[in-house]
Amino acid sequence: MIGRICGTGSYVPAHFLDNNDLAKIVDTNDEWIRERTGVVRRHIIEDETMVSMAVTASKRALENSGVAPEELDLILVSTFTSEVLLPCAACEVQREIGAVNATGFDLNAACTGFVFAYNTAQAYIASGMYRTVLVIGSESLSNMVNWEDRGTCILFGDGAGAVVLKAGEGTPYQPVTYSDGGKGSALTCMSRHRKGWISGAEDLDSYMKMDGQAVFKFAVKQVPEVILEVLEKVDIPLEDIDYFILHQANKRIIEAVAKRLKQNIDKFPMNLDEYGNTSSASIPILLDEMNREGLFQRGQKLVLAGFGAGLSWGAACLEW
Ligand code: ACO
Repeated sequence: MIGRICGTGSYVPAHFLDNNDLAKIVDTNDEWIRERTGVVRRHIIEDETMVSMAVTASKRALENSGVAPEELDLILVSTFTSEVLLPCAACEVQREIGAVNATGFDLNAACTGFVFAYNTAQAYIASGMYRTVLVIGSESLSNMVNWEDRGTCILFGDGAGAVVLKAGEGTPYQPVTYSDGGKGSALTCMSRHRKGWISGAEDLDSYMKMDGQAVFKFAVKQVPEVILEVLEKVDIPLEDIDYFILHQANKRIIEAVAKRLKQNIDKFPMNLDEYGNTSSASIPILLDEMNREGLFQRGQKLVLAGFGAGLSWGAACLEW
């Protein structure tokens, strides 16, 4: 059995900061940010939370799929930015959408999180344990950003995306994910709940800290390799892929991946100009936007690929 996407949904806050807004906060400018990253705006939560965005994205995905909440067996939430530690976000979503027959849990693989969650859903479906799964990526990164650090605050935004997977006949699923904890220091964010941390005190470790160049080099090397590996496993030539849906971190990273794979950049859709890097929400938000624009047709082949803290990276190939 294989899980097929039968519906998508997303939510991004209405409130946004554009590059000129950021130039009033830190020493930066619109030209630098556009040239180095491709980001123009990032949407930021006001009254929303990571869970409330996940709930809205999920309701929209269920509506789009025609699946009733009671039909869901499993809810997976990929996040590292929850405002609440207990209960887990999956239980909060379950309650809010009325998925009374579903079990669920959260997982954290940073910006690769949606790919890991998608793979986990596929593994459960392949095992026969669950048939109908809601996979969510939701992040309120603005809570984790040091708004005085121009090296990171320009990059990130908030949002959520969700897909509904339903079991059907198909070629057995072939996931590819990797972790390299040895390079973990390239991107870190310490918990505000750790021993010795005094609430309210200035603690720069509790914001995201990143060696941008190290992450950049890692991404442009590993993402093309993992895409080639996943395609070799399913025996599909690169040329047969209609769209490469990459984690939306940086326009230059996506362009470099397209170049290394010798593929037309038109096959690499982007929306990071509008949202910035929304971590594990970026792939499902992009999937939802493309789905609602009617860009997908049955039988089209897509590759999803993510990378991020851990370090972690991975890819999945799917038929629409
Ligand atoms: N505005 C103006 N100047 C800046 C800014 C800014 N916002 N940020 C840095 N600079 C300066 C630096 O201080 C440096 O100045 P110097 O030459 O006087 O020392 C200069 O610009 C160049 O800085 P670099 O860090 O070398 O710039 P780079 O071209 O590498 O771009 C960037 C930085 C955009 C962060 C890039 O490295 C990048 O995108 N890396 C990947 C990051 C990423 O994708 N992370 C997400 C991973 S996903 C996850 O798990 C959360």
